Amino acid sequence: MTRSSRSVLVVDDDQAMRDMVVALLEDAGHVAQSVDSADRAVEFLGERDFDAVISDIRMPGRSGIEMLGELREIRIDTPIILMTAFGTIDSAVEAMQAGAFDYVTKPFKRDALLVSLERAFERRALEQENRRLRRAVDRTSSFGEIIGTSAAMHDIFALIRKVADNRSSVLITGESGTGKELVARTLHFSGARAERPFVPINCTALPEGLMESELFGHVRGAFTGATNSKRGLFEEASGGTLFLDEIGDMSMGLQSKLLRVLQDHEIRPVGGNQSRHVDVRVITATNKDLRSEIETGRFRRDLYYRLNVIPIEIPPLRERKEDIPLLAEAFVRKHGDDRPRSIRPEAVEKLCRFRWEGNARELENMIERALALEDADELGPDSFPIFEEAGQQAPQGGPGNLLEEALVSDMTLSELEERYTAEVLAKTDGNKARAARILGINRRTLYRRGFSNRGDEIQPETESGTA
Ligand SMILES: Nc1ncnc2c1ncn2[C@@H]1O[C@H](COP(=O)(O)OP(=O)(O)OP(=O)(O)O)[C@@H](O)[C@H]1O
Ligand SMILES: [Mg+2]
Repeated sequence: MTRSSRSVLVVDDDQAMRDMVVALLEDAGHVAQSVDSADRAVEFLGERDFDAVISDIRMPGRSGIEMLGELREIRIDTPIILMTAFGTIDSAVEAMQAGAFDYVTKPFKRDALLVSLERAFERRALEQENRRLRRAVDRTSSFGEIIGTSAAMHDIFALIRKVADNRSSVLITGESGTGKELVARTLHFSGARAERPFVPINCTALPEGLMESELFGHVRGAFTGATNSKRGLFEEASGGTLFLDEIGDMSMGLQSKLLRVLQDHEIRPVGGNQSRHVDVRVITATNKDLRSEIETGRFRRDLYYRLNVIPIEIPPLRERKEDIPLLAEAFVRKHGDDRPRSIRPEAVEKLCRFRWEGNARELENMIERALALEDADELGPDSFPIFEEAGQQAPQGGPGNLLEEALVSDMTLSELEERYTAEVLAKTDGNKARAARILGINRRTLYRRGFSNRGDEIQPETESGTA
């Protein structure tokens, strides 16, 4: 019943019991060793790795539960199954509370112990896999919380490292959900300003008047309702970073005021007549194309240059699909917090074929949903049924997307052929002769494939057709 042999340490002061359990384990194909006390067990486990421990609770010297506590303290997390005497439900509860993986009640059935062991091995394997992934991620494929192995993301990591410590303005661009805010935070918290505040504000959140006093503060009586003076976010962020999200939506009036602050490093509260010096790094982000906003007169060119001293452009996820597997694993870890969860390679493969119009955020949401809906510990391809609705995902009609759609929905060759034929017929306005020529097949073959029953006239092969 076991796939491969595992090593198990048996702890019991009763020799007959020890021998019986060891024999049972060996019979099931495992490698078993036994010791007669908790102290010996701790010693053994400090020296070598076991896949699981089966231990009696009541023993002379330290009990199995005390042993558990000590092992956890020295960070040995081998799963431990405790054997409790029949009817001592209190120690069973105590065992679980102390962090035992499971318990079996003596006298136990062979299968009860082996089933529990199998589960322990699975858990162990998962944890080791997670640890391995986490280490791999830490080493090469992340910067702070930003994950990515693509060349584009590595360039971004290098850029963050280079500019985190200085005060130059940074403009982060990228589609929605690409991680702009994450990059902004990472810039702040990995740099010299990390101990000072990071203050984010969304430029679409407030109407212009309120936004101005929010950013620059106001003096008492500046406007109706201003019963007290108030510090603005620029001052709140003093020594730190102000993150202006969706800068493309800032009104022209405010843009001029922001420009002045960036030039003079001074702010003037609303209603006040004195300027105050501020030392703030400004990071902005937008998913708009600011250059075209400039062309259409909605964004100030001079402000753009001030903000765009260091541009960071995050490409959409579909242009760096190699980041998807690590992101998927990371999101499974992030949202599968109640117990160890994992994702099967086939599922990751499926995710890699998706278009991810909503980028990392969409991936994150989809994984969070799958974890919530899937009962099993592992996410498989079926945990992501949305792909079966591929028609809605892959934009219809656009011939450029046909191949992608085919890949997303696992189209068969003949389905693809049918779709392509239909596209070509649409392109030729139903002229089958031309369509057949484009397809490189003979007109009769086209009819045979079921495209003859649309009521069109049969057109002579020589006709060039109407455009
Ligand atoms: N490279 C990445 N590594 C890890 N998590 C990421 C990455 N990119 C995005 N995320 C996660 O995806 C989610 C969306 O990211 P974020 O809010 O930074 O995107 P955004 O570009 O600011 O989106 P929007 O334009 O909609 O405001 C967050 O939970 C973020 O942590
Ligand atoms: Mg954002």
